[in-house]
Amino acid sequence: MAKWLDNAIFYEIYPQSFQDTNGDGIGDLQGIISRLDYIKELGCNALWINPCFVSPFGDAGYDVADYYTIAPRYGTNADAERLFKEAHKRGMHVLLDLVPGHTSVEHKWFKESMKAEKNEFTDRYIWTNNVWDTPENMAYLRGIAERDGSCAVNFFSMQPSLNYGFYKIDKPWQQPVDAPGPVATLEEMKNVMRFWLTMGCDGFRVDMAGYMVKNDEDGKGTIELWKKVRRFLDEEFPEAAMVSEWGEPDKSLLGGFHMDFLLPFGPIHYAELFRGKNPYFSRKGQGDISQFAENYMKSYEKTGGKGLICIPSGNHDTDRMARTLSQEEMKMAFAFLLSMPGAPFIYYGDEIGMRYVENLVSVEGGFNRTGSRSPMQWDGGVNAGFSAAPKHKLYIRQDESADRPTVQKQMEEKDSLYHEVQKLTALRQTHKALQSNGGIAFVYAKENAYPMAYMRDFEEEKILVVLNPSEREESFEWSGKAGTIIYTQGDGIKISEDKITVPGGSAGFIEICG
Ligand code: NOJ
Repeated sequence: MAKWLDNAIFYEIYPQSFQDTNGDGIGDLQGIISRLDYIKELGCNALWINPCFVSPFGDAGYDVADYYTIAPRYGTNADAERLFKEAHKRGMHVLLDLVPGHTSVEHKWFKESMKAEKNEFTDRYIWTNNVWDTPENMAYLRGIAERDGSCAVNFFSMQPSLNYGFYKIDKPWQQPVDAPGPVATLEEMKNVMRFWLTMGCDGFRVDMAGYMVKNDEDGKGTIELWKKVRRFLDEEFPEAAMVSEWGEPDKSLLGGFHMDFLLPFGPIHYAELFRGKNPYFSRKGQGDISQFAENYMKSYEKTGGKGLICIPSGNHDTDRMARTLSQEEMKMAFAFLLSMPGAPFIYYGDEIGMRYVENLVSVEGGFNRTGSRSPMQWDGGVNAGFSAAPKHKLYIRQDESADRPTVQKQMEEKDSLYHEVQKLTALRQTHKALQSNGGIAFVYAKENAYPMAYMRDFEEEKILVVLNPSEREESFEWSGKAGTIIYTQGDGIKISEDKITVPGGSAGFIEICG
C-alpha cells in the first residue's frame, strides 16, 4: 500500500510563489505543471502542495472556505486533475494539504453554525452554551454571531475549530466523539478526501493532525479518529498516502498515518540542526547533535523501528535554512537530510539556497514566515522568471540582491548546491539502505562533538554515513570492514584500522561489508 513512499523524495510547493503563468503576480497550478520536469530532474518524485482551495487567505489558505473547489487564483478543478495526470505520467505522486481541524469563518458551514436557530451545521463547530462561557485552555471567538455562545478556534481567530468531540467531558457543551455533530463532521471530511482521491490525488499531508478531538491529553481520541479514517481509506482508496503534521510518530503511526513530520518545536531538537544560534551544520562547529540523536532514537524505537519521521529542509512556517547556513554548509545539511529514514521533504527553493527575505510586511497571515515564502528564483529574466506581472504586483517581494541564487545560475555552475542535491537524490534512489524504510543506528553522536556518524541498513546492505560540518579535522574510533566509498563531500574521509578521520567540511558514505 502506497509502496511509492518507500523511495519518495518530496518537494513542497507553496503555490502562491512557485510559478505564475497568467501574469497576475501569483503562482498557479498550470505553473506547477510547467515545472514538473524541473522537479523530476532534481530527483524529487513526489509533491506536497500547500492548501490551494477557495479561501479568504487570512492564513495563506489554511483557512478553507470551500474544500471542494480550487481557488480561482490558482486555476480550476480541471487544472488540478491535469496536474495529477501530468505528475503520474512522470512517475510522480501528489499530496494535497488537508486542513481538517478548522475552516475559515467565511465557510458556509460556519455561517450556518452561527445562526440562532438549530440547523444541520449547529454542531459542526465547538460552541459553548452562552457567550459569557468561554473555554479554558482554548482560544475562542465571541460576539460575532446571533447564536448565544463562544466558538473555539484552532489557530488564528478566524479559524474556528470543527467539532470532532471531546475525549474527556467536563462541561455540558462538550460533546462525545460519537455524538451526531462530531460524527457528521468526520463523515464530511471523508467526503472531502473521497472527492480529491477520486480525481486522482495520491493522498494528504494533514494539517495539525494531532489536534482533532479535544480534551485528549494522550491523543487517544484523536488516534481512534484517524484509525476510522484509515479503515475508510483501506476500503475505498487503499493506495492513499497519509503524512501527518503531528510530531509524535508513536501516536500518528498508530492512527494509521504512513509517516509523520519532525516539527520545528517539540522535544526532538530539529531547530538546532540548521537554525538558531549554534546550528550543528554550521562550520563554526559549536553545535550539539547528541540531544537530537537521543530523542530521534527514542521516537524511532517507539514506532517499533519503523521510524518514518520525515525531516524537512524547512517549510512555509520556518526560517529558510539559508538564513543561518552558507551554500557550502547547506550541502552538508542535504547530505544529512537525504540519507535519513522517512521521506525527505525539500522546501521549494532550498535546493538553490534561496534566502529568507528580511523586513517584509506580513502577507496573508505570514508574519515572520513571510520571508520564507517569497517567489521562486528561476533565471535572470523579469522577476527571476517567476511572473510577467509588474514587480509591485508580485505576491511577496522577491530577494532583490544582485547575487541572489537562481536555478539557471546553479545549473550552470558545476559545484553548486543544486548539483549536490541532485547527486544526493540520485544516490538515495540507488541504495535501499538510504531510503525511507532502512534502519538507522547512530555510531557516533557525542555531546558537543564532531563528526556525526550513523549506519543505515536494509536487508544485506549497510551504509555508514559520516558528516563533519565543522571546519576542524575530527575523528572517531571505529573498526569495521569498509567497502567502497559511494559519496564524498569536501576532501572526503580517511579510514584507518581503528578510526575514521574527517577533514573540516567533509563527508563520506561508505558501504560496509559483513
Ligand atoms: C500548520 C500550517 O503549516 C501553518 O502554516 C498554519 O498556519 C497552521 N497549521 C494552521 O492551519
